[in-house]
Amino acid sequence: MHIPGLSTVAKRASGQAISYLMQAAFQHSDCLSLAAGFVDESTLPTQLVLDATKRILTPNATGRSKLQYGTTPGVESLRDVFRSHLAVLENNPDINNLPLDRIVLTTGSQQLLCLLTQTLFDPGDICLVAAPTYFVFLSALDGMGAEIIPVPTDDNGMNPDGLESILQNLTDQGRRHRIKLVYAVSYYDNPSGISISADRRQRLVHIVQEWSSPQQPLFLLEDAAYRGLRYEGPVLPSLWSYDGAGETVILTQTFSKSFSPGLRVGFSVLPKNLVKPVCDLKGNEDFGSARFNQHLLADVLQSGSYTAHLKQVVASYEVKRNAMLAAATEFFSDIPHVHWIRPSGGLYVWMTLSPEIHTGFDSRLFEYATQTAKVIYVPGELCYPTSWNDRPRNQMRLSFGVESPANIREGMQRLACAVRHVTE
Ligand SMILES: Cc1ncc(COP(=O)(O)O)c(C=O)c1O
Repeated sequence: MHIPGLSTVAKRASGQAISYLMQAAFQHSDCLSLAAGFVDESTLPTQLVLDATKRILTPNATGRSKLQYGTTPGVESLRDVFRSHLAVLENNPDINNLPLDRIVLTTGSQQLLCLLTQTLFDPGDICLVAAPTYFVFLSALDGMGAEIIPVPTDDNGMNPDGLESILQNLTDQGRRHRIKLVYAVSYYDNPSGISISADRRQRLVHIVQEWSSPQQPLFLLEDAAYRGLRYEGPVLPSLWSYDGAGETVILTQTFSKSFSPGLRVGFSVLPKNLVKPVCDLKGNEDFGSARFNQHLLADVLQSGSYTAHLKQVVASYEVKRNAMLAAATEFFSDIPHVHWIRPSGGLYVWMTLSPEIHTGFDSRLFEYATQTAKVIYVPGELCYPTSWNDRPRNQMRLSFGVESPANIREGMQRLACAVRHVTE
């Protein structure tokens, strides 16, 4: 639809995948959803939120302040609570000395992702991303007219050698000054479910540090949205923890997946030089995220109820992950050339089909799955830069977030039928 008078930024935002996907999910509401990255409704902590609300709003005199405006980066006492939370996660008490002005509270981590694209990218600037990667961030980059270049990625996450050779190639082409950011989801990636392996973490940080200079800073954005949802495997240190000087890695985390996406509380740790520019842009946008929600999260963190809740959430998702993996084995094992990744955490199983089976919105598979088999998934091609003509077309992101274990099995059975149908 052509609407006259719109800005370039508005026009660039019009083709974004997330809105299209939400619409597709809405149109196919009669389908079992292996698509939505939503959290499981039955785990949402209504009682904990009610209890915390009572605590933070009483007595009246202090309660009222929680309903007042705050400050752009978030109220200092609250950032203090998030800093303590991070010190526990990183198992490093020294983090309690991290200057509070490096911590910014945002409306979900999505806001930080968007603010950063605005902070760093002019049209034609380059972002290097894992491939596949979080498609909503790809849209945000598209929105700024950024060039997005995929870095070779395997079952251990972004490949450091691949990153180095891309940096070298772009430099040889005289384009080093256009490279602004490297982006990776470090734990249980959306969409691949992969975590960057322990031996790659420090190396990736060092590479970005080596290629960064005061005149041409290069940043590494660590999106740790799924960090809390660990079902098995080692407790991995963040990429951020390897950035001793704190000048290279931007860490962003959210309580959307581990507590409640309705509250949209995210927090980030920024290199010193980015704090003011990010806050300046945030000031234009909202001059501070919902203070009440931040107080609420601070209360549940301090009271210990967050930790107890997270244990239950993790246990429930682990059952659902196992249900999806068992169903994958049961229904897909004998379909030629199908393979999938076993995630140790997060919400997604990434499945690859035979190369000739396309999975996109306009594919026979998507049509048959949604119209006849009544199951919906996220086409994998959304998770690669659209400018990449050779992007794989035969993959699917399957979420075990919203459906019950029984429905997950049923959904996988339906999907396998759909795959068989289009293979015949
Ligand atoms: C990888 C990743 N990053 C960031 C977000 C944004 O989450 P929120 O804005 O709710 O914190 C999501 C949401 O699905 C995600 O999957």
